[in-house]
Amino acid sequence: MRIPLTDLTLQHQSIREDLEAAIARTLESGSFILGPEVEAFEQEMAAFCQTSHAVGAASGTDALHLALLACGIGDGDEVLTSPFSFIATTESITKCGATPVFVDIDPNTCNMDLDLMQQSVTKATRGIVPVHLYGQPLDMPRLMGFASAHSLKVVEDCAQSLGATWMGKKVGSFADAGCLSFFPSKVLGALGDGGMVVTNDPDIAERVRILRSHGSKTRYYHDIPGFNSRLDSLQAAVLRVKLQHLDTWISRRGALAATYSRLLRGVGAISLPAGREDSRHVYNYYTIRVRGGANTRNALATHLKERGIATAVYYPKSLHLQPVYAALGYSRGQLPVSEAAQDEVLSLPMYPELATAQVEKVTHAIAGYYLQQPSHRQDQRPGSILNPD
Ligand SMILES: Cc1ncc(COP(=O)(O)O)c(C=O)c1O
Repeated sequence: MRIPLTDLTLQHQSIREDLEAAIARTLESGSFILGPEVEAFEQEMAAFCQTSHAVGAASGTDALHLALLACGIGDGDEVLTSPFSFIATTESITKCGATPVFVDIDPNTCNMDLDLMQQSVTKATRGIVPVHLYGQPLDMPRLMGFASAHSLKVVEDCAQSLGATWMGKKVGSFADAGCLSFFPSKVLGALGDGGMVVTNDPDIAERVRILRSHGSKTRYYHDIPGFNSRLDSLQAAVLRVKLQHLDTWISRRGALAATYSRLLRGVGAISLPAGREDSRHVYNYYTIRVRGGANTRNALATHLKERGIATAVYYPKSLHLQPVYAALGYSRGQLPVSEAAQDEVLSLPMYPELATAQVEKVTHAIAGYYLQQPSHRQDQRPGSILNPD
């Protein structure tokens, strides 16, 4: 039995009739760009995200870019962000003509360390792009307090965290804008690319609407330089079907994560994702940290692969060390927590249709790996799958 990292075929089988009906409805409507399906989906998403507006875009990357432009971020501005994210986070900043300024991460969450933001602020700082990595929300009330003290715009990168909450409030609803990705493997995935900006600010919503449609409010009349970045009607129709299941799917991810954590507690030299009572992690990825560095992490990944279990490393190279950002002048050792994380993180299979027996197989395989390591044979404490409590 192979266990993939994620498996969309099972999800699509379970809702196939509804998906086919939504696709047929769109075909018959003759409306393929924006239109009623996108408008309805935007309203449903605004309600889901607890915001007053939602504006569809062609991808999560574009949503971030358009939201930053709508917030007035531009040439010469500096934007604080996490070095431990997908490059789309920083691409959106540089596409505006601004410079990303990396703030090291918290080792427990892999999210930006809010204690370190102050030291990165300069006269040119205009914004912050916090990333809720893996589906885990960061402390947005605290971050917004800091932003307001320094008059900074904030755009939340919620690409991996749709549905996550901090004290009951949805991510994306705290800041000037929140950006979502509907990349197929996200918690709400389209059958292709898609993204969205959610906001409580009507001016930002309006600016994003204009920017996504060639800088135009009225067709063929162009007020500002814009882009072609719209959500397809077909994707919106499919996403509307899936949205109806999203809460159930997120709950199932939470249950699977709890099973992983229960079975892996005390196994080997790994750290488990740090959940909090007062927040909801949506586990787009269930990511452990393998102590001992990249060789150990990679050896564990190989051990799992040999047993048919897929894993992934999000991300193997911190953004500040990427060649594309060489001109920013960062060097190794400057952001040590992010650099350690790149060598230790390992994401395990996670999708709502994953069976509990499959999670057990993964955790057994991990325990088996550590049993082969002489230094860990004595290290199986209560709570581990070898000594279940
Ligand atoms: C943290 C993060 N930001 C931004 C994006 C960009 O989203 P998209 O792939 O929809 O452009 C992604 C997804 O791939 C992501 O994981």
